Amino acid sequence: MTASEQVLVVIPTYQERDNIEEILHRVTTAVPTAHVLVVDDGSPDGTGKIADEMAAADDRIDVLHRTAKNGLGAAYVAGFAWGLEHGYDVLVEMDADGSHAPEQLPRLLEALDGADLVLGSRYVPGGSVVNWPRRREVLSRGGNLYVRVALGLTLRDATGGYRAFHRRVLDRIDYAGVASQGYCFQVDLVRRALEAGFTVREVPITFVERERGESKMSGDIVREAFLLVGRWGLARRREQLRSAFSR
Ligand code: GDD
Ligand code: MN
Repeated sequence: MTASEQVLVVIPTYQERDNIEEILHRVTTAVPTAHVLVVDDGSPDGTGKIADEMAAADDRIDVLHRTAKNGLGAAYVAGFAWGLEHGYDVLVEMDADGSHAPEQLPRLLEALDGADLVLGSRYVPGGSVVNWPRRREVLSRGGNLYVRVALGLTLRDATGGYRAFHRRVLDRIDYAGVASQGYCFQVDLVRRALEAGFTVREVPITFVERERGESKMSGDIVREAFLLVGRWGLARRREQLRSAFSR
């Protein structure tokens, strides 16, 4: 990333009333030149209204209001489209609940020198997870192992949600066509970036479980990820067999 490139941090929110002010404050303090787009799915708790008030007081903050809770993937698709349209060079994914420390963002952005996509990674040396219940960590590590085996990826953390994309990646891959839910959306984006020949680099992060509000991760999201990754894995094997026999 060069100094003149403009960064947009996209923060999806649903029911984050107790977190939104703090995260916006931390982002604009940690990287004062970055702009922020909050993508709120009409949170009944008034998250969108708080974000609007902060946006009115700070030119670096914008809010995209959507009418229904349509999932994390759909929120990012809308946020990326907005960011690309507005000419941003780098688009960052970040949770609103404080799990992704804005203070670590400069390290992700630095790593974009010589990479097209940088993943904040919990599972490379130096990375960690703080305060997750055992079963959640087992699910996450298991999910990543499954992704590595099924898709043949060498990445340690392909399901995480703290990332920096250079816009050339989003301009090229059909990001709006990705499977649009939790884990799966994240995996699909990385997979498409690698297939298109982009360089993906992992940088260690410390993921800290939220202290306020609730996770929106659900059994449905996990099941959907399991099915879709399995399907992509099968398609990949079939393709490998086909090219082996047609040689
Ligand atoms: N607009 C919108 N719409 N935002 C949403 C929705 C939605 O339907 N669902 C979740 N969010 C927002 C939350 O408000 C939060 O800011 C962020 O997305 C992450 O949601 P969490 O519910 O806190 O996710 P998590 O902590 O369980 O999962 C995290 O780790 C996963 C990998 O282990 C996230 O970082 C995921 O992206 C990641 O895949
Ligand atoms: Mn969270």
